[in-house]
Amino acid sequence: MIRDILKFGDPVLREECAEVTRFDKELVELLDDMYETMVDADGIGLAAPQIGVLKRVVVIDVGNGRIELVNPVITSMRGRQFEPEGCLSCEGKRGIVQRPGHVRVKAMDRFGRQVKFKGKELLARAFSHEIDHLNGILFEDKVIEWVEEEEDKQ
Ligand code: NI
Repeated sequence: MIRDILKFGDPVLREECAEVTRFDKELVELLDDMYETMVDADGIGLAAPQIGVLKRVVVIDVGNGRIELVNPVITSMRGRQFEPEGCLSCEGKRGIVQRPGHVRVKAMDRFGRQVKFKGKELLARAFSHEIDHLNGILFEDKVIEWVEEEEDKQ
């Protein structure tokens, strides 16, 4: 089911999210709804607070398949990158943000099993951006310079 995405300015986006402790049907539904909502909105990442659910849950798909992160933790960061990014909660605005070049993440999957990922470039940005959401941090807090929206983007 496609859910409504909260927009910047909504105080819910500034809340700290709670750890998931129950790996149940509700979590599976949340993950499926988040993925469907993200794809429908043409996004590459979505965090649960963006649909008003204050839980530490993230979905990402940068074009290499669906990644689900429950209670994600960044375990290491290396290097730096400065690239424009946007957010489904702030459509039409993009800005340059400093992010680590390489990120390693550990999390749980939908069944409560531990999973590990590493990402660079766009995936490193997505991990960093979405995990920030779980702590009430928005990319606008970190923008070094706002950039014009690409003209060919719908
Ligand atoms: Ni975002």
